[in-house]
Amino acid sequence: MARIILGIESSCDETGVGLVRLRDDGGVELLADEVASSVEQHARFGGVVPEVASRAHLEAMTPTVRRAFETANLELSDVDAVAVTAGPGLAGALLVGVAAAKAYAVALDVPLYGVNHLAGHIAVDTVQHGGLPSPCLALLVSGGHTQLLRVDGIANAITEIGSTVDDAAGEAYDKVARVLDLPYPGGPPIDKAARNGNPEAIAFPRGMTGPRDAPFDFSFSGLKTAVARWVEAAQRRGESIPVDDVAASFQEAVADVLTAKAVRAALDSGVSTLVISGGVAANSRLSTLAQERCAAAGIELRIPRPRLCTDNGAMIAALGAHLLAADVAPSELDFSAQPALP
Ligand code: KG4
Ligand code: ZN
Repeated sequence: MARIILGIESSCDETGVGLVRLRDDGGVELLADEVASSVEQHARFGGVVPEVASRAHLEAMTPTVRRAFETANLELSDVDAVAVTAGPGLAGALLVGVAAAKAYAVALDVPLYGVNHLAGHIAVDTVQHGGLPSPCLALLVSGGHTQLLRVDGIANAITEIGSTVDDAAGEAYDKVARVLDLPYPGGPPIDKAARNGNPEAIAFPRGMTGPRDAPFDFSFSGLKTAVARWVEAAQRRGESIPVDDVAASFQEAVADVLTAKAVRAALDSGVSTLVISGGVAANSRLSTLAQERCAAAGIELRIPRPRLCTDNGAMIAALGAHLLAADVAPSELDFSAQPALP
C-alpha cells in the first residue's frame, strides 16, 4: 500500500514542509512543497543571522505544516512516516524542525527519520526525474556546500570525492553580489545581470585547476578576491563599474570550473549520470554549460527545477521515502540535531 511521508526542513533560513507519496513500485510522487523564507529579514545583514532564523522557524513551522496538508488535501492521520533534517546546518534552526518532527512522530505513532540535508538535495531529483541510476555522480552546490559525491545508493551509500577547500560556490555568489551592490542572496541578481554582460570581458581565475591541484576539489576564495580587487581598481580610477560584465565573467569562471570537474569526475569513475542540485544549480549559465559538456561527453544530466534546487521540505520527504523503501531502521526518538553532520 502506498505510504505518505511528511518532510521537515529548517537547517538555514527556509522553513520547508513537504509531503510525498511512496508508491508500491518505489516511485516517489510530490504532493506538497510549502516554503516560508526568512531571507528578507537577513537581507540587510548580508547573510543569515542564526537567532533571527530560529525565531522565524518557530513562527512559521505550524502554519507551513498546515498549508502543506491543505495543498495535498490530506489529514495528519494519513502520515506513515516523518523525516526531518538532522544536519548539517545552524544548531538553533535545526532544533526547531527536529522538535516539531518528534512531536508529529510521537503524536501519530509513526517512524521518524533524522536525515542528512545534503543527501536530501540529491534525493529530491527523484520526484521530478524518477529513480536514480546507481551509481551516479552528484554535484552539490549551495550556499554552505560545494561537493562532488558518488552515489551508490541514496539511502546509505554516498561517498565524497571532492569538495571546496574554502568558500562554497553560493557563498562566492553572495560575497561578489555585495561587492557589486546587488541584493542578498546574490545568486539570482548576478544570474540576471550576467544575461546582459560579456562572459569574456574579464579573465577571472579558475581555482584549483593547476596540474598539482586535487582534480576534484574546488576553491572560490581566490576568485572572490580577484573580483573585489578588480572592482576596487576600477573605482580608484574613477570609472563606473560594468556590473553586467563583471557578473557575467565571474559567473563564467564558476560554471566553467564546476562543470569541467564534474564531467571529468564522471568520466574518470565510469559513471554515466550526473545530478546537479543545491541552490546554485538554479543558475542559468551553469545548467547551459553543463548540458553542453555532458552532451559532448555522453553523460546523462539531471537538474531538478529551480524551486526544488533551493532548500525545501520536499527534498527531506523524498529522502525519507527512499529510506523507508530501503527498510532503513528509523532514528531513535532521542536523537539530536547535528549541526556539523558530514
Ligand atoms: O541550497 P540553498 O537554497 O541553501 C543552502 O543550503 O545553502 O542555496 C542557497 C545559495 C545562495 O548562496 C544563493 O545565492 C544561491 O544558492 N543561488 C544561486 C541562484 N539561486 C540561488 N546561485 C547562482 N545562481 C542562481 N540563480
Ligand atoms: Zn541546502
